[in-house]
Amino acid sequence: MSGEVQKGLEGVVVAESQLSFIDGDEGRLIYRGHDIETLAAEASYEEVLYLLWHGSLPTADELSAFTATMAEERAVDDEVHSVLADLAAVDESPMAALRTAVSMLSASDPEPDADPEDQTARLRQGRRITAKIPTILAAYQRLRDGEEPLSPREGLSHAANFLYMLTGEEPDEVAEETLDMALILHADHGLNASTFTSMVIASTLADTYSAVAGGVGALSGPLHGGANQDVMETLIEVDRSEKDALQWVRDALDNGRKIPGFGHRVYNVKDPRAVILEEKSRELGDASGEKKWYDHANEIEQYLVEEQNFAEKGLAPNVDFYSGTVYYQLGIPVDMFTPIFAMSRVGGWVAHVLEQLEDNRIMRPRAKYTGEKDAEWVPLGDR
Ligand code: COA
Repeated sequence: MSGEVQKGLEGVVVAESQLSFIDGDEGRLIYRGHDIETLAAEASYEEVLYLLWHGSLPTADELSAFTATMAEERAVDDEVHSVLADLAAVDESPMAALRTAVSMLSASDPEPDADPEDQTARLRQGRRITAKIPTILAAYQRLRDGEEPLSPREGLSHAANFLYMLTGEEPDEVAEETLDMALILHADHGLNASTFTSMVIASTLADTYSAVAGGVGALSGPLHGGANQDVMETLIEVDRSEKDALQWVRDALDNGRKIPGFGHRVYNVKDPRAVILEEKSRELGDASGEKKWYDHANEIEQYLVEEQNFAEKGLAPNVDFYSGTVYYQLGIPVDMFTPIFAMSRVGGWVAHVLEQLEDNRIMRPRAKYTGEKDAEWVPLGDR
């Protein structure tokens, strides 16, 4: 075994997977053989969940049964609402509130004694958590706004239900399709940090609630899912300041700041999801006449690529660079952006947990010890 330290586990292969493939030089992303462009244009988020969890695209009957089961599992208990209300009262961030609520869901699991190695029980657990996350998030937002949470409405898709429970109004077709597409784009992405976190937790045979709660925690960081929020906050800062977008970026680079939404461990070119979201952001701006969010982002991208040689350095927009402007144009509050990422990526966490457990071995890497080996013990009173 090599004693070489692979910082950040860069390039380390720890599992075989049939779930998603990334070609970081070509800018290609595939879920179980299907290009992300096709899925974004043709599929629904529910179909993608089925594909990831069951291994193939559903037939019409399978999809309708799956969708019906998800719909039955959307509601959350009053106890969860009550804790969310307490968290809203102390202004907890939505990601932290989600992490707490996911953890609470295990208390109402109808199969608490399921064998941790029973894959079908695990899948049911994962499906229940996935179905409930939009309900939790929408309830949290309403509680923060001093409004009563809404129950899920029958007959609406996963995406539409979230928007309905958030705003109290059924979304129009553009809003529903846009969010549905964003959920598809974020559903899986190899062994990213949050997915790997979930896998590590599940590899100990801990329950799925723990694995998902851990995934939410890992995703919340600014180097991972938190970046979509940071991008939007940056664009708002640019918009409100005297500086134009380019001056803001120059100053940020001079101050050694990383530009949120740029760079990726795996991609050396523009993330294919950013290409799709950029187009959607532009379309939404054209339709509403409010083009400035797309324009600010695009100006920053052009500048970094053309004048700061970001492309030569392998730095290009990632999924978070344009997603924020899309959500913002749908009227979604900025600190709900990362939770929406979680609402989607839970599909990938569950899929990878199931795959990990098909041939499980506890995840247990090592560190190269660089500390002292023969330290002298000094009694407490003599230190
Ligand atoms: N802006 C400016 N420079 C960046 C950058 C960014 N967004 N991302 C990376 N770099 C530079 C680093 O400063 C480093 O330069 P150096 O070699 O001269 O020190 C080099 O590129 C490698 O970056 P590093 O952070 O070591 O790469 P990584 O693979 O460990 O990290 C990310 C990948 C995504 C965490 C990193 O690109 C980043 O922090 N991006 C901003 C946050 C973000 O958008 N995260 C969402 C990812 S989907």
